[in-house]
Amino acid sequence: MDKIMDLIAQEEKYQNETIRLIPSENFTSENVKKALASDLTNKYAEGYPGKRYYQGNKIVDEIENLAIERGKKLLGVEHLNVQAYSGSPANSAVLMALVEPGEKICGMKLNAGGHLTHGHPKITFSGKFFNSVQYDVDVEGRIDYEKLRELVVAEKPKLIFAGTTAYPWILDWEKFAKVADEVGAWLVADISHIAGLIVGGVHPSPVPYVHIVTSTTHKSLRGPRGAIIGVTKKGLDRDIDLAKKIDRAVFPGLQGGPHINSIAAMAVAFEEASGEDFKKYAEQIVKNAKVLADTLREGGLKVFGTENHLMVVDVGLERGKEVAVELEEAGIIVNANTIPHDMGSPFKPSGIRMGTPAMTTKGYVEADFVALGVKIADIVKR
Ligand SMILES: Cc1ncc(COP(=O)(O)O)c(C=O)c1O
Repeated sequence: MDKIMDLIAQEEKYQNETIRLIPSENFTSENVKKALASDLTNKYAEGYPGKRYYQGNKIVDEIENLAIERGKKLLGVEHLNVQAYSGSPANSAVLMALVEPGEKICGMKLNAGGHLTHGHPKITFSGKFFNSVQYDVDVEGRIDYEKLRELVVAEKPKLIFAGTTAYPWILDWEKFAKVADEVGAWLVADISHIAGLIVGGVHPSPVPYVHIVTSTTHKSLRGPRGAIIGVTKKGLDRDIDLAKKIDRAVFPGLQGGPHINSIAAMAVAFEEASGEDFKKYAEQIVKNAKVLADTLREGGLKVFGTENHLMVVDVGLERGKEVAVELEEAGIIVNANTIPHDMGSPFKPSGIRMGTPAMTTKGYVEADFVALGVKIADIVKR
């Protein structure tokens, strides 16, 4: 057998035998995996349904159109692009569509819980080619919306990202919208982490408040790796050509042929996420996260959060990586993470980040997370 097949089998076994608490990970359904592993991976389809640069795309067009229709309905947006290869290319496409190089953009600081693609300075595409200003969180790790307003009014960015990667609180879309509207900025909600919670009805939707929604499809939404870019009614009201601009930025602006197997898998995941079972799943994710956070607190740890699927735990100055390794040795997979106003650095952070989407998929309920929380607190305090 090819060595790679053996390694895949080993990894599958490892994933199923360990406790997966990385909040951006999940276990997809068999049908999502079937779509990903299908012959759709063989097909080239540059362009969009009905306007392809390659022949032989009749069925592929139907697949992409179905993914688009299902996704639009699920999120409640007017237009949906399903071709971005992943979350980072989706955010890059939005920047390419709406901001010129050197113009000002605004996003949350990385160590406050923001994402690299939201303008992290110097080392990223978004921080290198745009003039980035960044907002922070307070001592509890919550966005200070008044300070955000002061920053935005002073700096007048052309585009604001509202969205997070390590933020345990509910996002107040209305407050973001007020700030953005005051200076006429584009408002982009990056719901990569919380998409599953939003469509499951346990986190408010940004759609009425923002111009654009971006999201990965592989986190709490439980689909394949990939991303979507939605244009809202508010977005189209501001610019009737917004959908066209987004589509052109994805192709031919940034990408070539779309990954049709991923798009088919998205269509599967969107259908799965629209059912009653998924609502129950989303509710359970949040219940489980609360129980885990409470148990860790009872165990003597400082926990940031939680109102959503994740929490950040203070494990002592610069101890994040060491604790994550110790947990890995105990079969518990988490990631080291900065805590709000960390005195360490991204390379030597003082926290760990944990979330419940993956283990909730595996059937974990509150009692399982109490037992797990006790075990984690013991390991952290060793
Ligand atoms: C908020 C947010 N946006 C974008 C991304 C980027 O997604 P990808 O890793 O698929 O490029 C992530 C990934 O962690 C994220 O959390």
